[in-house]
Amino acid sequence: MHAMLKQEAEDGQTTLADPNFRADVLNGLSLNPRAIPARWFYDRRGSELFEAITELPEYYPTRTETALLERISPELGALAAPDAAVVEFGSGSSTKTPILLRAIQPAAYVPIDISGDFLRQSARALSADFPGLPVYPVEADFLRPVPLPTEVASLPKLGFFPGSTIGNMQAFHAVDLLRAMRAWLGEGARLLIGMDRVKSPDVLVPAYDDAQGVTAAFNLNLLERINRELDGTIPVDAFRHRAIWNADAARIEMHLEAQRDLAFTVDGRAFHMTAGESIHTENSHKYGPNGARMLLRAGGWTPIREWTDPEEWFTLILCEAQTLRRAP
Ligand code: TRP
Repeated sequence: MHAMLKQEAEDGQTTLADPNFRADVLNGLSLNPRAIPARWFYDRRGSELFEAITELPEYYPTRTETALLERISPELGALAAPDAAVVEFGSGSSTKTPILLRAIQPAAYVPIDISGDFLRQSARALSADFPGLPVYPVEADFLRPVPLPTEVASLPKLGFFPGSTIGNMQAFHAVDLLRAMRAWLGEGARLLIGMDRVKSPDVLVPAYDDAQGVTAAFNLNLLERINRELDGTIPVDAFRHRAIWNADAARIEMHLEAQRDLAFTVDGRAFHMTAGESIHTENSHKYGPNGARMLLRAGGWTPIREWTDPEEWFTLILCEAQTLRRAP
């Protein structure tokens, strides 16, 4: 691992620290309880580890959502505007995207992702499979305002937000994001969103704590990234990955738990943790059918169609941008 990192540095591949990353880490490590925003998981290695998670036997969401999308794809063509631009939020390696693009046959595709080289590589692969389709990748954190390419400005939009990524936000922030998406995508837009359902912790917990330890490696990579990019001295081996079902908040939480008392510095600042103390790194909220619909309405979207798998583990919901008016 270290040899590889060193090589990256020698090749000049290592990216300079993002000031927002530094601020979020220094601030997050000073909070009580400590917490670092999950978006920082997705450096190149984090994005690759996440792709590996989606193929794990315990990780049901990707497989369930993909099968559901395949099943409903004959209906989808009729549900989007004929010359729509598909805008995908957090596209990653875009494995579900070809199913949607084949069903919709859109006029353009705009993948938005925070991991730039990963995004460009996926966009290239996709262009090869859809030679006639204009693809406009946008490297951005969609939690901040996203300028859409001018080429798609006049086209009707279909937002695509799969993977239950909305569940990684607390409802308060999820509503902000949904409202922002409604503003970016404009009047008449539609949104196809994937949301994971509440289910037994016997299914939920292993999905976030797999036997092979891939999710553990994904979580711990955040500490490696801090050491790499922010001149950190975190003893990564002294931390353990933990996945907990928080029933009150209806969410899986991921933590990095210190196995002993320890001290380290990040960017020259000193931190101390005691054994058992943890850094909270991720939430994955799960929704029942009413909760899902309520969240979408609060975010300015009206659910118009809804599909679920036979076990009701995952839902895809098609929504329409609300036209807001004051009168009831
Ligand atoms: N949104 C998905 C989920 O919550 C994917 C995801 C985001 C994820 N962060 C993760 C999966 C961390 C595993 C671990 O399931």
